[in-house]
Amino acid sequence: MKILPIAAAALLACAAPLAAQDVTVAIDAQESGPQISKQIFGQFAEHLGTGIYGGVWVGPDSQIPNVRGIRTDVVAALKELKIPNVRYPGGCFADEYHWRDGVGAERRTTVNANWGGAIEPNTFGTHEFFDFIDMIDSEAFISVNVGSGTIQEAADWVAYMTADTRSSAGQDRAANGREEPWEILYLGLGNENWGCGGNMTPEHYVDLMKRHARFDRNYNPAQAAGSGKEMRRVAVGPSDDDTRYTEAVMKAWSERDWSWSIEGLSLHSYTVPEWPPSLPSVGFDEGDYALILKTTLEMDQRIALHSAIMDKYDPEKQVPLIVDEWGVWLAEDPGTPEGFLQQQNSLRDGLLAALNFNIFARHADRVGGANIAQMVNVLQAMILTDGPKMVLTPTYHVHKMYLPMQDAVHVPVEFDADEYAHGDITLPGVDAVAFRDTGGKLWLSLVNLDPSSAKEVAVDVSGLNVRRAEGEVLTGPNVNSINTYDNPATVEPRPIAGPVRAGKVTVDLPAKSVAVLALE
Ligand code: AHR
Repeated sequence: MKILPIAAAALLACAAPLAAQDVTVAIDAQESGPQISKQIFGQFAEHLGTGIYGGVWVGPDSQIPNVRGIRTDVVAALKELKIPNVRYPGGCFADEYHWRDGVGAERRTTVNANWGGAIEPNTFGTHEFFDFIDMIDSEAFISVNVGSGTIQEAADWVAYMTADTRSSAGQDRAANGREEPWEILYLGLGNENWGCGGNMTPEHYVDLMKRHARFDRNYNPAQAAGSGKEMRRVAVGPSDDDTRYTEAVMKAWSERDWSWSIEGLSLHSYTVPEWPPSLPSVGFDEGDYALILKTTLEMDQRIALHSAIMDKYDPEKQVPLIVDEWGVWLAEDPGTPEGFLQQQNSLRDGLLAALNFNIFARHADRVGGANIAQMVNVLQAMILTDGPKMVLTPTYHVHKMYLPMQDAVHVPVEFDADEYAHGDITLPGVDAVAFRDTGGKLWLSLVNLDPSSAKEVAVDVSGLNVRRAEGEVLTGPNVNSINTYDNPATVEPRPIAGPVRAGKVTVDLPAKSVAVLALE
């Protein structure tokens, strides 16, 4: 048995296939890897399609139950996920967002040029965003406009959010109804400035980034230097395998002086085998299934690629990689407005989410955060809404099952992955990650990628007398099964337990499933 990171497992599995339905996992419960930051469970909410309007915000006069205009059903569901941070207001939207349009009694109406030319009423702005994240007990990841805005405009916005009422910025905020300054956990210094954010050369971006890092000051006394709650500035980093921004930003960081710094480097990487995205989100076949999972597993090598460059400039790993846009990007649902990026969400997408969390966990030494795109109604959403109706997606359920991983300690595992092959694609049959939660309990996450064969997984735990193995498993009739408003429970977690004999646990892992079990 060998320690098999998933990519290597795939290669080995080709050379020496194991007997089907016979997977072994070995865990030394005394071992400890790095902490898996809860921030990898961050989410992304952009002014895009019905992600905000309709999905989160319905306005105080709506018939849909709401508190101060924010949907109560969506808030209740999201609160369950203990989302550590919400990235807002974009995305490409942020690259053209002028925050003053969205504060005060008079809101300007603008055009959302990136996303279908929709009319943007700006009725959801800074105050409404903070109200929303307060309702779901989350924290703010604000992306400032480095594309079309000025440094002064961004600095004024951060001052508006964080200054106390001794200054005009704080007084303006108070006049609009909020006396206390807000806290900002992350400040995104731009968005995709290599693309929709202005198509800047890395050098041009680095110059701008330094000035934003210096001048976009957080004045909240609760976040002062030494408070332990200092705002983390996240620079724009790479897109997929393009290393130019990684090199330029990290080199600049390694040569920085006292006047500026960053506390994160962003990576954007979607699971999208072809551009423009054209694979359907419903009714797809096994060919699409295998292709999408193969593509998503590339996240592992991609993180390794950028980590190696970051290690060169930052061997002590002070700057975390923040994968602040990830998820599967599919064809838009037929009949939905073009540019609204509305897609269904299947069991396959739930498996894909779990595989990515496992990859982030294995790279916990460098990956300090991640934000799935996006929260409601857009791309790989947790929640879909249609007027008053709401449904929870398989991706939602995986997020909930993975709650014990928040701030857990990674425990390395050895496992034989077996294999799953379709056409010319060969993938690991099973993925496994172990971790110790903040209360000290040991957990094992298993993903069975094989759409038709259940696996008997033998788990050998040393250093802990395991008596019980219990948790939840998510599967469904088919890999393309979805939850709908009429049938919302087609893909839902159910309990799973594994018998324990002589310290060995056996888990009957259904085909196409994700299981998360506590080993006690
Ligand atoms: O999530 C949709 C879009 O994808 C974001 O606005 C942009 O940053 C990325 O290209």
